[in-house]
Amino acid sequence: MSHMKNEGRRARIIGTGSYVPERIMTNQDFEKIVDTSDEWIRARTGIVERRRAADWQASSDLAIEAARRAMSKANVAPEEIDLIICGTITPDRMLPSTASYIQRELKAVNAWAFDLAAACSGFIYGLAVGSQFIETGRYRTVLMVSTEILSRLIDYTDRGTCVLFGDGAGAAILRTCEDGSGLLSFDLGADGNGADLLDVSGGVSRLTGDTESAQHHIRMQGNEVFKFAVRAMEDSIEKALRLAGLDKSDLDFLIPHQANLRIIQATLKRLGLPPEKSVVNIDRYGNMSGASVAVALDEALEQKLIQPGDCVGIVAFGGGLTWGACVMYL
Ligand code: UT7
Repeated sequence: MSHMKNEGRRARIIGTGSYVPERIMTNQDFEKIVDTSDEWIRARTGIVERRRAADWQASSDLAIEAARRAMSKANVAPEEIDLIICGTITPDRMLPSTASYIQRELKAVNAWAFDLAAACSGFIYGLAVGSQFIETGRYRTVLMVSTEILSRLIDYTDRGTCVLFGDGAGAAILRTCEDGSGLLSFDLGADGNGADLLDVSGGVSRLTGDTESAQHHIRMQGNEVFKFAVRAMEDSIEKALRLAGLDKSDLDFLIPHQANLRIIQATLKRLGLPPEKSVVNIDRYGNMSGASVAVALDEALEQKLIQPGDCVGIVAFGGGLTWGACVMYL
C-alpha cells in the first residue's frame, strides 16, 4: 500500500453482495423461440446462458438479497446506513421508488432512499453520488445497489435483443476511510443525442398506454451502440486514471460492463491489459445493465482475483447514452 497517497477522507467499498435468480435460460432455449443458434450467440456476444427472475420477483426482491449479503460481509447493521441509492431502469413500480421498498425491508430506518436511472452506467453513477456525501463528511455509510429485471422489457420475437439480457442485482457498501484507500476518481458522461439508439419508448408522460405493446420493449441499434461502446470504455477509464494521477500501467484489475464479449476484448486490447487482469461474467448472466459490473465486482472479490491494496477500475456505458468509470484502491 506504499503507493497510496493519503489525501484525507474518501469513500471505500467495505463489502459487496450479489444475487441472481435461479431460473436459467440457455441459448438452446432461445433456439426454440426465435431464428437463432447457440453458435451465433456465443460467437457474436459471448453469452451462453442468463438468469430470469421468477414471476413473483420484482427488482426490489433481487436488490434486497444482494444488499443483505453486502451488509453481512461489511458487518454493517441496517440502522447504520445513511443513504440507499438504487440504480435501476426496471423499477418495481412508477411510484414509490424501488429504493423505498429496499429501505423498508432492510429496516434501514435512518436512511433516505432514491432511485437513479442511468441504465448500464447506473452502478458507477451511484458510487459517484454516494461517495460525494461521504467525502464531505455528511454521511458515513451508503448502500449502492443496482438491480434489473430486464426480462420484463424483452420482445421475445426480436432476435437482435432478446438473447442479450439477463436479470440480477449487485450491491456495495461505501464507508468513510482515511487511510489512503477508497474511491480516487470518477469520469462520468452523457450524450442525449444518442437517446434513440437504445430505448423503451413507452413511458409515463409520453407514449403511455398498453404495456403489452411494442412500446414496452427494449429497442436497440446494436451496431451503433457497439461502436460507441468501445470508444467510450477506453476514453472513460483513461480519464478516470488521469484524474487520479495514475496511468493504465498502474491498473491491477479492470471490471468492464458486460454487454458483449467482443466489446470487453476490444477494450482490454486498446488498454494493453491481459485477460487475467479483467473479469467476464456475460457468459453466465448476459447483460444485466448496471448490475453487471456490481455482480462482477462481488465475484472478483469472492474469488480473490482482487485483494486489498489493488488498484481497480470499473467502467461502463449504456442507454442514454451514458458512460462512466471509477478508479479505487481496494
Ligand atoms: O449495455 C449496453 C447495450 N447493449 C450493447 O452494448 C450491445 C452492443 N451491440 C452488440 O453487442 C452487437 O451489435 C449485437 C450482439 C447486438 C449484434 O451483433 P452484430 O455483430 O453487431 O450483428 P448485426 O446487428 O450486425 O447483425 C448481423 C446479422 C444480421 O443478419 P443479416 O442482416 O446480416 O442477415 C442480424 O439479423 O446477424 C443477425 N442476427 C442474429 N442472428 C442469429 C442478429 N441477432 C441474431 C441472433 N441470432 N440472435
